Amino acid sequence: MKPINVGLLGIGTVGGGTFTVLKRNEEEITRRAGRPIRITAVADKNLELARSVTGGDVRLTDDAFSVVTDPEIDIVVELIGGYGIAKELVLKAIENGKHVVTANKALLAVHGNEIFAAAQKKGVMVAFEAAVAGGIPIIKALREGLSANRIQWIAGIINGTTNFILSEMRDKGLPFAEVLKEAQRLGYAEADPTFDIEGVDAAHKATLMASIAFGVPVQFDKAYVEGITKLEAADIKYAEQLGYRIKLLGIARRRPQGIELRVHPTLIPEKRLIANVEGAMNAVLVQGDAVGATLYYGKGAGAEPTASAVIADLVDVTRLHTADPEHRVPHLAFQPDQIAEVRVLPIEEVETSYYLRLRVLDKPGVLADITRILADQSISIDAMLQREPEEGESQTDIIILTHLTIEGNVDTAIAKIESLDSVTGQVTRLRLENL
Ligand code: HSE
Repeated sequence: MKPINVGLLGIGTVGGGTFTVLKRNEEEITRRAGRPIRITAVADKNLELARSVTGGDVRLTDDAFSVVTDPEIDIVVELIGGYGIAKELVLKAIENGKHVVTANKALLAVHGNEIFAAAQKKGVMVAFEAAVAGGIPIIKALREGLSANRIQWIAGIINGTTNFILSEMRDKGLPFAEVLKEAQRLGYAEADPTFDIEGVDAAHKATLMASIAFGVPVQFDKAYVEGITKLEAADIKYAEQLGYRIKLLGIARRRPQGIELRVHPTLIPEKRLIANVEGAMNAVLVQGDAVGATLYYGKGAGAEPTASAVIADLVDVTRLHTADPEHRVPHLAFQPDQIAEVRVLPIEEVETSYYLRLRVLDKPGVLADITRILADQSISIDAMLQREPEEGESQTDIIILTHLTIEGNVDTAIAKIESLDSVTGQVTRLRLENL
């Protein structure tokens, strides 16, 4: 059988893993795909590295454009990352009639509409299983496995670096900055960890999941993004006392008014399975109207877990590349003319529950003032905790958990609470999801 020819752009961690797994499982993969999948060209700036990984029996080049325009190549695997050169290469590959497999969540979350439109016009596939939650086949599950459902919401731990940091903060009671250094020493966090710790990477992934879950364009610019850099060890401890764990969640929810698309630290009841996902692992919870809740768990990064997703896409493309484009699975799961322009709700309109921590003077009437303000905003209290003041201490912490409410109401209440003489400093606000 004639092999299908793959051009690999970037042979770093994931590229190397893809090369290794394709070789190791060659026979099994061919039995599935119907024909051999061969990496015949590799482009990387580091030719020495490319030679050592491939053994040198493929065409090696430092000119990635020569691969995306090579008439012998059927599928281009883009593992360069970022929005710059990767975008040019992907569009060039499409223009040249190549199918594209990519792990580049940033590129698709920001420029996906343009890229999918170009691919649609040219009749080629753009597959991106590896872009979300590494080895977990969540794109396949959302796009195909759950296609009977009206998907109601998705909540995912989709960034391993931050989950590792949060797990360590909870286990060891350490502050964020200290655990970040440890994560960098162990190689979990990048030297520049901004995208991970500020929630941007998770928001890229949530954006892609929201699109294929609800059949809407990718809209990263409308996502609410809050990372874990301001999270204090004290809040992790108080949350635990109240029976919750704090996780950085990527959330996409369908509401009658529009779609919620947000990433932020979130309290989750500790008895939920997803609350017990620790270390660098990922997990995605999907609620469909027919199936109910489904949970997908696994490694969200790393050479072979991510290669597993890249190769699954290569097998799909190999099986389908001779099919009529109309009969393939649509890029965003819904037929292109059925993609709906639905409003992404601003954070003020989001509906969720809240954790509020207040530093207050320990004297009569303080709690009454606070609860009056909450009642005036129609915010109902679910639970409350007051730390017993230390000997001689005149201030204490009050923690309030609310029932479901609208974020705008909480903003108003917080501003009023902060203006009380009996409340010192700022109110700490975290969101809470019962899932
Ligand atoms: N940096 C990501 C994480 C993996 O920490 O999960 C790649 O998206």
